[in-house]
Amino acid sequence: MGRFDAVVIGGGAAGLFCAGMAGQLGAKVLLIDHSEKVAEKIRISGGGRCNFTNRDAGPANFLSANPHFCRSALARYTPQDFIALVQRHRIPWHEKHKGQLFCDESSEDIIGMLLRECEQGRVTRWQGCAVQAVRSTAAGFELDTAEGPVRASKVVVATGGLSIPKIGASDFGYRLAKQFGHRIVETRPALVPLTFDAATWAPFSALSGLSLPVEIRTGPAKGSMAFLEDLLFTHRGLSGPAVLQISSYWQPGTPLRLDLAPQLNLATHLVQAKSGSKRKLQTELAALLPQRLAEGWLARHPTLTDRPLADLRDRDLQTLAQSLQAWEITPSGTEGYRKAEVTVGGVDTRELSSQTMESRLAPGLFFIGEVVDVTGWLGGYNFQWAWASAAACAQAL
Ligand code: FDA
Repeated sequence: MGRFDAVVIGGGAAGLFCAGMAGQLGAKVLLIDHSEKVAEKIRISGGGRCNFTNRDAGPANFLSANPHFCRSALARYTPQDFIALVQRHRIPWHEKHKGQLFCDESSEDIIGMLLRECEQGRVTRWQGCAVQAVRSTAAGFELDTAEGPVRASKVVVATGGLSIPKIGASDFGYRLAKQFGHRIVETRPALVPLTFDAATWAPFSALSGLSLPVEIRTGPAKGSMAFLEDLLFTHRGLSGPAVLQISSYWQPGTPLRLDLAPQLNLATHLVQAKSGSKRKLQTELAALLPQRLAEGWLARHPTLTDRPLADLRDRDLQTLAQSLQAWEITPSGTEGYRKAEVTVGGVDTRELSSQTMESRLAPGLFFIGEVVDVTGWLGGYNFQWAWASAAACAQAL
């Protein structure tokens, strides 16, 4: 029977990074993944260019039942530490919108880097190997795998969340956590497009394909969460960065509130534009908003459409402006794990050490990455959590 200091289950972002670092620190590490291909989520991330971190990542960019849990790991392994590693491997990268860092060429560069780090740490890697059972023993743990039984002093669970099952996501990590007495914070798809029932969406479906910057909010007026990002209308509902971000905070049955012209005070503008104007409302509105939005929106207000601005009452213009700047609409659901980038919830942090990610219930058992109840915003934050939690754990193996 093979014997290792540590077995890491899950060869995605967190597992690869942890295995490589622990190996380089002297541990004899086995990394097991049930998928045939390594690190599929890194491969498809960032549109194939992997948004590998965010320069400004900090605890405020994460959701968790305990918002303080991520603090220590994020402070001890920072975006700058990961950038230094990327530079040591001579991977070309660039900064996009709001501190988001991407590979110039391909996500394969990040996968190649993590595999080289594993080689340097002499990590044994069993790819395409299922883990059937994990038992604790007097000396650590015993695992039944498709390659035969193995023993290890420590086990690291890095099996990720539930999104995109067709590329290997599973609930194995949550089941293992429960087996060892851990609680699971209820999971739900996040960073995901939102959908609407057919009747609610019918008036807006003609806007499918339209993208524009908006302010989007959810939650009670006091303490609501807001993002200023691009919105995309689709034939089924709303998507784009604004909606992906807000989806992590949205609670079923509650409305979204959108300002479709966040840089403007539309009511004041339209009322002022009235005086002596022969222009039609449609022309005026199309000068302020994307033309398709102006046309699509006015189609819902047929009494206003073709009339000169000067003939319209202030009150009607204010109501129209209000409908665009305080648009309230209630989604019926989300596109689900099939389309979600991440899973909110996961292994409850109350039973984990924030210093090492070790279980307080089963010494020697660790949970890192997305399987833990720590979820980042869109924009490189989830990978930064994967690297930071993996680094905290690797030093304790
Ligand atoms: P990850 O999912 O990476 O790895 C888990 C591994 O465990 C997988 O290799 C899986 O095969 C394996 N596994 C699962 N069950 C197993 C079992 N029973 N036995 C053995 N192995 C098992 N984030 C970001 O910061 N920037 C970005 O650009 C993107 N882009 C992006 C695009 C898309 C389409 C998605 C779906 C997600 C993103 N993300 C992202 C999110 C990011 O990919 C995610 O948060 C991290 O990959 C999480 O890293 P983990 O290592 O925790 O899980």
